[in-house]
Amino acid sequence: MIKTFFATLAGSLIALAMPFAVAEPIVIKFAHVVTDDTPKGRGTLQFQKLVQERLAGQVKVEVYPNSSLVGDADELEALRSNKVQLLAPSVSKLNALAKPLRVYDLPFLFDNIEAVKRFQRRDKSRELLGSLVSHNITGLGYWNNGGRQLSATREIHTPADLKGLTFRVESSEVLAAYYQQLGAEAVKLPFAQVYDALRTGKVQGAENPWSNLLGQKINSVQPYIVEDNHSFLTYMLITNTTFWNGLPFQIRSELEAILDEVTQSVNRDAEAINAKARERVVAANTSRILVPTPAEREAWRTAVAPLLKRYESEVGSDVLRAAEAANRR
Ligand code: LMR
Repeated sequence: MIKTFFATLAGSLIALAMPFAVAEPIVIKFAHVVTDDTPKGRGTLQFQKLVQERLAGQVKVEVYPNSSLVGDADELEALRSNKVQLLAPSVSKLNALAKPLRVYDLPFLFDNIEAVKRFQRRDKSRELLGSLVSHNITGLGYWNNGGRQLSATREIHTPADLKGLTFRVESSEVLAAYYQQLGAEAVKLPFAQVYDALRTGKVQGAENPWSNLLGQKINSVQPYIVEDNHSFLTYMLITNTTFWNGLPFQIRSELEAILDEVTQSVNRDAEAINAKARERVVAANTSRILVPTPAEREAWRTAVAPLLKRYESEVGSDVLRAAEAANRR
């Protein structure tokens, strides 16, 4: 009898407490393929920290670096099926879905990272953030890493030096076409396989910004690095459209404000992070760094110039002209 009384009392108390029970936080899984100590890695951690500070109890961000949850091969499918909610893949990995994004892979198009950033702020590039909506993917912003540097097992000065070598590229037709145009081979491999492919000799070369070279210890298996900045590694911060639009308005607005803040920090700090990584590669003394002379650079540019013509119709003349104009301020 007493037992029943207490059981009923406990039941009533639980029922009374129910309206005040705290709802479970919304979980945002943010997956990526690089280390924490890269522009993207730091950006994801800053996002996690700011969400923890400003939306505690309402949103929880889980960060999965280094292909630990999903990698290049399955991350887009994971986003579309809402197993992860945020990714920041290289634009090169998205440009089979939206061809104008190929503008970012065209070689020697941007003079420097400042030109890339100017282009990203302009309408033509902002419009491209919406180019994946038919795939239920929304672009939320651009994060930059840095210039792609060519690395190889042999000394390279001219396009002819590439003959007989195979280079790992991201899953982009344009990046592969770059090496084919120069008389070399290209294979598309997920980022998580790059180090092993170089170590085992499956490929003899690659192209990476300094932070990724260091993060994956690529310099330890590449005795030559050509600092040519032949294109720039840009990420698109993407989410699942249904998930994002379904968020309560106030939470989505706060997340967008946080992402804007993080985007600014990532793009402000990317160059310094790459410069530091370069210093560490130099200090490791694993590789000779070759800086092309202006004449060598011009020879490369001329050799691959036909690619700009070849891809102009896919990219769109308006987008290409806007990218070129960003070099002139
Ligand atoms: C690559 O595959 O080389 C890069 O896109 C990796 C990354 O996310 O920086």
